[in-house]
Amino acid sequence: MTARQQHPDAGITVRRMDFEFSNVPRYWADKDPHFTHLLNALSATFPEGERFFVHSVRHFQDRITDPVLRQQVSAFIGQEAMHAKEHSHYNEYARKHGIDLGFIENFARQRMAFIKGKMSPERQLAITCALEHFTAILAEQMLTEPDIFENFDPSMMKLWLWHAVEESEHKGVAFDVYQDIVGDYRLRIRAMAVTTFFFIMHTTWFQARLLKADGKLFDVRMWLKGLDRMWGRKGHFRKLIPSYLQYFRPDFHPWQHDNRAVLEKWKRELNLDDAAVGKKTVAVAAVVEPVPAPAPATPARAARPRQPAAAKPAKARTVTKAIPAPKAVKLKSLDKPTAKAATGSKAGARPRKTQGGAEPVPT
Ligand SMILES: [Fe+2]
Ligand SMILES: [Fe+2]
Repeated sequence: MTARQQHPDAGITVRRMDFEFSNVPRYWADKDPHFTHLLNALSATFPEGERFFVHSVRHFQDRITDPVLRQQVSAFIGQEAMHAKEHSHYNEYARKHGIDLGFIENFARQRMAFIKGKMSPERQLAITCALEHFTAILAEQMLTEPDIFENFDPSMMKLWLWHAVEESEHKGVAFDVYQDIVGDYRLRIRAMAVTTFFFIMHTTWFQARLLKADGKLFDVRMWLKGLDRMWGRKGHFRKLIPSYLQYFRPDFHPWQHDNRAVLEKWKRELNLDDAAVGKKTVAVAAVVEPVPAPAPATPARAARPRQPAAAKPAKARTVTKAIPAPKAVKLKSLDKPTAKAATGSKAGARPRKTQGGAEPVPT
């Protein structure tokens, strides 16, 4: 089966969200500094990263002839713009409460400017496809393994689950644009190899700097627990290796893993189909392509089969019901230190930036 053959489409809906972070504790992921700062490091790269994804796909927008793919690209751009907005919102909140994510945002901005200035649009799109594969497999893991987020702060849990749902919804869009217009397998694979190296290196470096700022860089027990959580026998990252490697197959397509059932489950549980739409919604056909295509002799630039003309796209929803607030949970805010935090910093730790001079490190 080639990437152009039959694959499902979950539908892509842009949802206008507005999360509230005012009660998010400092270590909002399982009360674990290592895990929290890993996710903080990712969150800090998202706004620039999402804008880069949009930039790289938009470059080819006028050359897309498939009407369904054009619609999907519009929805993809809308979703990524909303992800950038909500993660910027969280990043700003974290910064105001003494977690300096600014150096990561600046680094990401400079890195993306370098890529945009020095690399061809084709290579930029290949990098986007690689990063979209990362987000797709991370999203799938989050949506199918509740132990990952069951001890998250409720607001952060909803932010990450919403993002995971939408990353899954649009996981094939950049890839389809790449296959239809560029279609260079070797470039796609090279981009993935290089992107993987820098992604792991940079994320680890960002995480280490955030831990250093908290005086926890040399907390050996914390590191051992954190490394076991991610890379141990049942580690989250370790379990992703098979799905990561799928990308290297010449006939890979993101929708070869059909996760529409789990997406529907989470859309119901998070009220995503009722919430936040109405202000802006884009919906596209939720169909299975019925026409398998013969493998083209030269994959680049071949027209991709899509739904038959008779298939109707889903209509855009215009629902105005608001998102119910997460269940009330008593939380410590980021700027309310516990007694333990006030005395628990290691010797030699650099003082953190805090608001109003308070020492805000509840553990
Ligand atoms: Fe995103
Ligand atoms: Fe994405």
